[in-house]
Amino acid sequence: MKKFVAAALCVCLTASAAFAAGDAITTRKTIMDSVAAAAGLGGGMMKGEIAYTPAAGKAAIMSMAAASHSFGAFFPEGSEAGDTTAAPAIWSDAAGFEAALAKFAAASDAAVQASGKDGPADVDAFKAAFGPIMANCKSCHETFRVKK
Ligand code: HEC
Repeated sequence: MKKFVAAALCVCLTASAAFAAGDAITTRKTIMDSVAAAAGLGGGMMKGEIAYTPAAGKAAIMSMAAASHSFGAFFPEGSEAGDTTAAPAIWSDAAGFEAALAKFAAASDAAVQASGKDGPADVDAFKAAFGPIMANCKSCHETFRVKK
């Protein structure tokens, strides 16, 4: 009987861990999709392909800030396998990943600070705030994302 309970508990824990890992992968990929959308909006305004407005500039910056502060919470043990391009380095070099997240968050927070209440006044002010956020994509992906 004792053995049976232990086995049942074990199966149940394994199943719930697998489910949580899959959830975390879906969540973090969707957060990154929101980062890509904000990059599209911000980049489009920087290039003059989308008309610049302070409110839209602020929206792009706030999305980045929200993502940069939440993304790191969705890398539980067990979520390195599955439909993901997260690199094993996230778990083997957790301190390095934390540092990359902190850099992304610091650039985003500085941009929020620079936005004020209504958003950066003109496209040059926006570029100065948003450029340093965009500098984080490639550097983090190079180390912490695998190409599939
Ligand atoms: C601190 C690290 C980090 C930063 C900064 C970062 N990314 Fe990512 N990104 C990742 C990781 C890790 C994944 C893989 C997530 C997965 O597949 O589980 C990813 C995945 C993605 C994806 C694919 C999402 C999907 O649906 O599979 C896109 C698009 C993306 N990032 C765009 C960006 C852009 C644009 C920026 C810069 C504005 C950026 N990322 C900044 C770590 C980062």
